[in-house]
Amino acid sequence: MPVVVEQSTPAHELAAQLRDAETSGAPRYAALARRVRELVVTGELPVGTRLPAERDLAAALGVSRVTVASAYRTLREEGFARTRHGSGTVLELPEDRPAWQWQSADVPGVVDLAHAAPPASPLLGPAYADALTRLDTHFPGSGYVPMGLPALREALADRFTAQGLPTTPDQVLVTSGAGDAAALVWEALLETGDRVLVEHPSYPGAIRSIELSGGRCVPVPADAADPDALIEAARLAARQSAPRMAYLMPDFANPTGALLSPTGRRRLAATLWQQGVLTVVDEVAAELALDGDPAPHFAAGLPDAATITVGALSKAVWGGLRVGWLRTDAALVERLSTVLGHRQLSVGLLDQLAATTLVRDLDAVLADRRDQLRTQRDVLVAAVAEQLPDWSVTVPTGGLSLWAQLPPGLSSAALTAAAAPAGLLLAEGRVFGTGAAFDDRLRLPFTRPAGELRSAVDVLAGLDRQLRGRATPRPVPSSTVV
Ligand SMILES: Cc1ncc(COP(=O)(O)O)c(C=O)c1O
Repeated sequence: MPVVVEQSTPAHELAAQLRDAETSGAPRYAALARRVRELVVTGELPVGTRLPAERDLAAALGVSRVTVASAYRTLREEGFARTRHGSGTVLELPEDRPAWQWQSADVPGVVDLAHAAPPASPLLGPAYADALTRLDTHFPGSGYVPMGLPALREALADRFTAQGLPTTPDQVLVTSGAGDAAALVWEALLETGDRVLVEHPSYPGAIRSIELSGGRCVPVPADAADPDALIEAARLAARQSAPRMAYLMPDFANPTGALLSPTGRRRLAATLWQQGVLTVVDEVAAELALDGDPAPHFAAGLPDAATITVGALSKAVWGGLRVGWLRTDAALVERLSTVLGHRQLSVGLLDQLAATTLVRDLDAVLADRRDQLRTQRDVLVAAVAEQLPDWSVTVPTGGLSLWAQLPPGLSSAALTAAAAPAGLLLAEGRVFGTGAAFDDRLRLPFTRPAGELRSAVDVLAGLDRQLRGRATPRPVPSSTVV
């Protein structure tokens, strides 16, 4: 990943962060390099930071200049830094994220925990049957509805309004899913080299599509155990790296499950807006609150043009229903719809008719989905506690997945590689990060039935015993992660 911006970190501040660098038998320079790496992949040291001069850091740490020079050299060799004449040594992230592609899980006996995608809602079939009876009223027209079916835009606007975010249909654009909506935003609004704040870890599809549009991701540490810590971290990152946009999942983030508090989200929304950052708010899981009421929309209380909210029926209803949307101010919707029109004239009409019914009936759809996910989450949490007692999870209050912390010595990549032949598909931790972060993490979706979740944990427990302490394999083909 390219360098973002060049802010210096004073030698004494970096020295304080490096003081506890574990040596555990390794040479001092290697321990320093390892600690800097940790600080970069967790976002504590932003990408783009200029490291102090070797002489200054050596003095602040009380080590020789050769030690610091060797640590910097190691960072350069590993792709975590580069040195340019005149501007010193600048931190960056290596581009060694595992490649990913969709893993076919439609094989009998295979348990799919690679994708956080539930089976279809029981209300999907009836909605399509009903849509089919109404389709012929559209036959005399062209069948193209470039901004979306008016009835669907209206149903979505009504739902936002009822939830405290006043919205008119001309503020809604229909897309082929939430991913499509976000990709459209990057395509239309990002210029090459623009910085985008992203939670770290984040949804890999978003990281990828930002990068494909020429954007540079600036990782901001996110943690389900302390979700509101994101606010200060994002404020600092916004100040340091002057991002043009942010991509956030305030509600049950993928993969952490983190939920920003009502006050926290108001503060973060206001801060980013004041700093001139346009925030893309991904609400694909926002309605999947399992233990309480959904939080207020992130966009509530801000000018409409301050945010672009993207959403879809993919998680509440089914990933096979390719209908999503974005919501922002009407002028921006108009602009985005022109860009969308260059690549697709319309989302399928039958799908939009079915989606209109489902949006109007979304409370019924969600009641069923939430019951299912709550039961499955509890089964998965109990199975992990019983069979994998030294794995640690923060139980999310909604969403689709746990973000497990693995015990020392267990590699997520190694688990993923060993699980596939045992009929268990996983998405390793590193695909959710930038650089090489999160090999000590595994996302465990609770989107499969209870029996499959229990057998998945049986497999994981067996592999845990076998693999503990083995080295991380180099990048393995992993999944297209949802
Ligand atoms: C956070 C997040 N956003 C967007 C998407 C893509 O959604 P869609 O299938 O509606 O394009 C996913 C899929 O898993 C997701 O997890």
